[in-house]
Amino acid sequence: MSEARNILVTSALPYANGSIHLGHMVETVQTDIWVRFQKQRGHNCTYVCADDAHGTAIMLRAEQLGLDPEQQIAQVNEEHQTDFSGFLIGFDNFYSTHSPENQRLSSEIYKTLKAKGKIAERSITQAYDEEKGLFLADRYVKGTCPKCKAADQYGDNCEACSATYSPMDLIDPISVHSGTRPVPKESKHLFFKLPEYTEFLKQWTRAGHLQDEVANKLSEWLEGGLKEWDISRDAPYFGFEIPGEKDKFFYVWLDAPIGYMASFENFCNSPEGAHLNFDDYWKQDSQCELYHFIGKDIVNFHALFWPAILKETGHRTPTKVCVHGFLTVDGKKMSKSRGTFVNASTYLKHLNPEYLRYYYATKLTGGVDDIDLNTDDFVQRVNSDLVGKVINIASRTAKFIGKAGGELSSNIADPELWQKFVDANASIAELYEQREFSKAMREIMALADAANEYIAAQAPWSLAKQEGNEQLVQDVCTLGINCFKVLMTYLKPVLPNTATASEAFLNSPLPWPEHIEFLGAHQINTFKPLMSRVDADKVKAMIEESVELAPKANPEPAAVASADNDWLSKEPIADEITFDDFAKVDLRIVLIANAEHVEGASKLLRLTLDLGNGETRNVFAGIKSAYKPEDLIGKHTVMVANLKPRKMKFGMSEGMVLAAGPGKSELYILEPNDGAQPGMRVM
Ligand code: MSP
Ligand code: ZN
Repeated sequence: MSEARNILVTSALPYANGSIHLGHMVETVQTDIWVRFQKQRGHNCTYVCADDAHGTAIMLRAEQLGLDPEQQIAQVNEEHQTDFSGFLIGFDNFYSTHSPENQRLSSEIYKTLKAKGKIAERSITQAYDEEKGLFLADRYVKGTCPKCKAADQYGDNCEACSATYSPMDLIDPISVHSGTRPVPKESKHLFFKLPEYTEFLKQWTRAGHLQDEVANKLSEWLEGGLKEWDISRDAPYFGFEIPGEKDKFFYVWLDAPIGYMASFENFCNSPEGAHLNFDDYWKQDSQCELYHFIGKDIVNFHALFWPAILKETGHRTPTKVCVHGFLTVDGKKMSKSRGTFVNASTYLKHLNPEYLRYYYATKLTGGVDDIDLNTDDFVQRVNSDLVGKVINIASRTAKFIGKAGGELSSNIADPELWQKFVDANASIAELYEQREFSKAMREIMALADAANEYIAAQAPWSLAKQEGNEQLVQDVCTLGINCFKVLMTYLKPVLPNTATASEAFLNSPLPWPEHIEFLGAHQINTFKPLMSRVDADKVKAMIEESVELAPKANPEPAAVASADNDWLSKEPIADEITFDDFAKVDLRIVLIANAEHVEGASKLLRLTLDLGNGETRNVFAGIKSAYKPEDLIGKHTVMVANLKPRKMKFGMSEGMVLAAGPGKSELYILEPNDGAQPGMRVM
């Protein structure tokens, strides 16, 4: 075997304000498979992670729950670890960014940057909530778009007309925390001088550390010009205080990646990690490998800020940043109302973690494409591949070996078939190395097919009926068991539990050497069923349990991961109005006569609404990410017919249609019951 490599691997640190869901599991399963593969190959591979515990969202969530942030993150940490171990994620260490190691490392790194003149200071003006005593990030301010006058827009951009602006430009802005009007307030912020690293990053992003598609995306930013990065936040903030400053804290994204180092340091100082030396892995001249697995939403933090900071502070930069796409379920973004926003713990209540690990493996590639969990395909794939093909080989052959005393023969009944299994070794290993798990699974299943064909053709169950065939039956089944052993060797990174059970059955460990030996003249144990079929009813039950109809009053159950800020938009009920107020709104049933894309508009569809009396209206609706035009045509819906026409960038909008939901791709237009005709008034 080639020389052992020293590899440190990380998955992105999940935020401590929400539960682990099946989207997170794409990443941890991908990372864990890769790590288990490296360990099985005999390399020194260490896998660390942590909770990302800082930031305003966590502070506010703790407040909402009536807890100290420390208590809240400790609870979540325990919950996260339970979920991950339920999915057999084999972290060597799972820590928290709110740790003494991280505080020390973050401070040191900051001080080095400051001493080298890489920190700029200047005052900025931000929206400030006087009631809460809190500076407001753009997403925490809502109001009317200054450009198109659409109501209820966030402080950074308008979902109706795509205008971008700053929160204080909104008409009638309010703080989402208190409902009060924010005031502009100035304060000093600290900035990391990122533009000084433009040349370094242009070279680094093209030096083999990133997938091409990721490097291409980053080129756009690098060509467009980098901006200085605001790394400070004013009190109150849950995080680390900035050394030498008063009431200023590191922005959560400054100390989060340093949390990788801190978790590793914490591991080095534990008995299990005592053989590792921190500096060997992190100093500039390190010969060790460093791999970060992340989702495509956080590329800028890992492939721009992070390498620049590491380089400037005398550290090595990552060997590779491995970026994956997002999970969709049945072709759509995960949705709480459809029940496809499934928490890890909910899945585990109903289904075996190895089913999902295998299913994800059949979908994962080295690229950044989104991956789809199709619930029907999931049942079908797992049952047909794992139970129907792989396990089946052992269950069909083991009983004949058992009858003959459990000793495998020393003959290789079909050397050609055996050679095929042995020869696949290098190419399957290379596919794992390149994170082409989907291709690896395909090769492995092709081998399983070959073994099953062989067994079916030999039909040991028929052979066994005639006397004198004892040795032949023994040889055929021995080859079957050996094929199974090789398959389980190749699948061990994906199916750790089944691999362990197989090792017990085979009475042999399953390492992954460069040359796989035939297991002959060897005593095996009694075969016990290794995996049961996926029960489609359990998948259904899991989805049903995940359906969340209406926002719960208080407190929100686990907030959604930050990548989508859905949880911000759970609307409180608005102020009371009189019937007369309501009656002013003329709501009408309309037929969507036509729907089409609008050139240049990222969120809008142009709808032609038929009011039934020969009148049609042209309406621009911000529902493009939720509907395909062709799916809307012919539907009935409800419009506000007496809304003052609005001039928009793309033309006049003569009313609006009613839709429900938190926004973005989760939006549902209202449809009347059968019988309602265009033009009818809605009261
Ligand atoms: N806390 C930051 C990461 C800091 S790393 C120094 C964060 N946390 S997160 O909880 O929002 O996401 C953690 C990881 O899970 C990210 O890599 C993110 O891309 C990934 N995913 C979150 N939702 C996902 C899907 N729906 N699908 C696939 N991956 C997803 O970002
Ligand atoms: Zn607008």
